[in-house]
Amino acid sequence: MSQTATADMKTLAKGQFEAWAGSYDRSPLNHFLFRPAHTAFMEEIARWYDERRRPFRVLDIGCGTGTLAGWLADSPWPVSVVGMDYAEGMCRKASAKVAQNARGRTTDQARFTTGDSERLPFHDGSFDIVTCSNSFHHYPDQQSVVRNIRRVLKPGGRFVLIDGFRDNIIGWVTFDVVIDRVEGNVHHAPWSVIHEYLVTAGFTAIRRRKLNFWFPLLVTTGDAE
Ligand SMILES: C[S@@+](CC[C@H](N)C(=O)[O-])C[C@H]1O[C@@H](n2cnc3c(N)ncnc32)[C@H](O)[C@@H]1O
Repeated sequence: MSQTATADMKTLAKGQFEAWAGSYDRSPLNHFLFRPAHTAFMEEIARWYDERRRPFRVLDIGCGTGTLAGWLADSPWPVSVVGMDYAEGMCRKASAKVAQNARGRTTDQARFTTGDSERLPFHDGSFDIVTCSNSFHHYPDQQSVVRNIRRVLKPGGRFVLIDGFRDNIIGWVTFDVVIDRVEGNVHHAPWSVIHEYLVTAGFTAIRRRKLNFWFPLLVTTGDAE
């Protein structure tokens, strides 16, 4: 992809999400896409934690309004979470939401920062789990994002990626036709390509599952050795 096309894709996404931050949580898409993804993350994280039983750090990239970070901060797990998003408006909304839900409790378990998923501003091996939901299709260089995620994961860490499943007719119409027209300049990769991204970046034990009949979502997990 040319540098101009890359810049266009990012500028478009940033503009859309800056504008959407205030009303994002009231969107009907929460019911169909965002909540099911957050619920699946909690299931995946529970599975990871049950096998290890130790404090852990999560990075949620393209975190939007911070719903997952809020759920993690409210969980009984010994977890701290960083939410990162390209849109400042999303990060502001996320910080306010977590602070409001905490009602006086300390909120240092969850913090938010602005950044680009292609250039993660974190040291190597800083996180136990990296999550990314409904954001990956906005990234011009998806392979580079997956490489970066592998870099910031600790040995034994896990990447959980959730995005539109476009490998059946319902998913193809939903994501490659409808969402593509609405959002413009996005790319929902097929499972075979996502699998290759993870293999190339050095992930092992790569698994996938599908959520939802309508608005199908693909959950992909990979482990960092
Ligand atoms: C549909 S929202 C999903 C938010 C959240 N993960 C959820 O499931 O509710 C997509 C998010 O990805 C963010 N995003 C898009 N491109 C990005 C990039 N290059 N780096 C970081 N975040 C990005 C957008 O700003 C937006 O908040």
